[in-house]
Amino acid sequence: MSITIRPYALGDAPALFEAATESIPDAFAWLPWCHPGYRIDEAEAWVEKQVGAFARAEEFGFVIQSPSGRLLGGCGINLLDRVHLRANLGYWVRSSAVGQGVATAAAGLAAQWAFTHTALVRLEIITTVTNIRSQRVAEKTGALREGVQHRRLLLHGTHHDAVLFALLRPAGSA
Ligand SMILES: CC(C)(COP(=O)(O)OP(=O)(O)OC[C@H]1O[C@@H](n2cnc3c(N)ncnc32)[C@H](O)[C@@H]1OP(=O)(O)O)[C@@H](O)C(=O)NCCC(=O)NCCS
Repeated sequence: MSITIRPYALGDAPALFEAATESIPDAFAWLPWCHPGYRIDEAEAWVEKQVGAFARAEEFGFVIQSPSGRLLGGCGINLLDRVHLRANLGYWVRSSAVGQGVATAAAGLAAQWAFTHTALVRLEIITTVTNIRSQRVAEKTGALREGVQHRRLLLHGTHHDAVLFALLRPAGSA
C-alpha cells in the first residue's frame, strides 16, 4: 500500500481512538499505552502533546495515512539525545492494516524525514527479543542489527531483553 506520513493535527483524536481501540488485543503487550479501556480523552491528550512537542522540536510524531486519508497508525522520532545526535524511532500499525508493508514504509519515511530536517546521525529501533514482527520491520528498513541489550525495556512491570537496531545518516549527507 502506498502510504504517507504527516505530523499530528489537533483533529486526529477520534481517528486515533478508533485505530487504537481495534488494535488493543494485538498491541497491548508491546505498547502499554494501547490498553483495554483506552479512552477518547487519552487520544486527545496524546494528540495535543504531539502537536506541541513537534512545534517545539522536542520530538516528532507522525500519523501514518492511506491514500484516502485513513489513519493507519503512528510513527515517530523521540527520546532525542542532543549531545550525541541520536534518537529513538518507533512505529505501530492498526490491526486491520498489518501485513501490507505499512510499518516498513512509514519507518523509512520517518528516517528520511529525520535525516533531512534534523542533525540526527543515528536512529535506534528497540524491540523486545520476542517481537519478531517488529524486528522484521527494522530489518526491512535496512537498519543494522547491533545486538541484544539486557533488561532494556520495562513493559507491564517486567524487564525485557531487547534487540537494538540502528539506522545511520547516509554518508556524505549534510
Ligand atoms: C509490528 C508492526 C508495527 C508491523 O506492522 P506491519 O505494517 O504489519 O509491518 P510490515 O507489513 O511492514 O512488515 C511485517 C513483517 O513481519 C512479518 N511477520 C508478521 N507476523 C509475523 C510473525 N508472527 N512472525 C514472523 N514474522 C512475521 C511479515 O511477514 C512482514 O515481513 P515480510 O514482508 O518479510 O513478509 C505491527 O504489527 C504493530 O503495530 N504491532 C504492535 C505494536 C508494535 O509491536 N510496535 C513495535 C514496537 S518496537
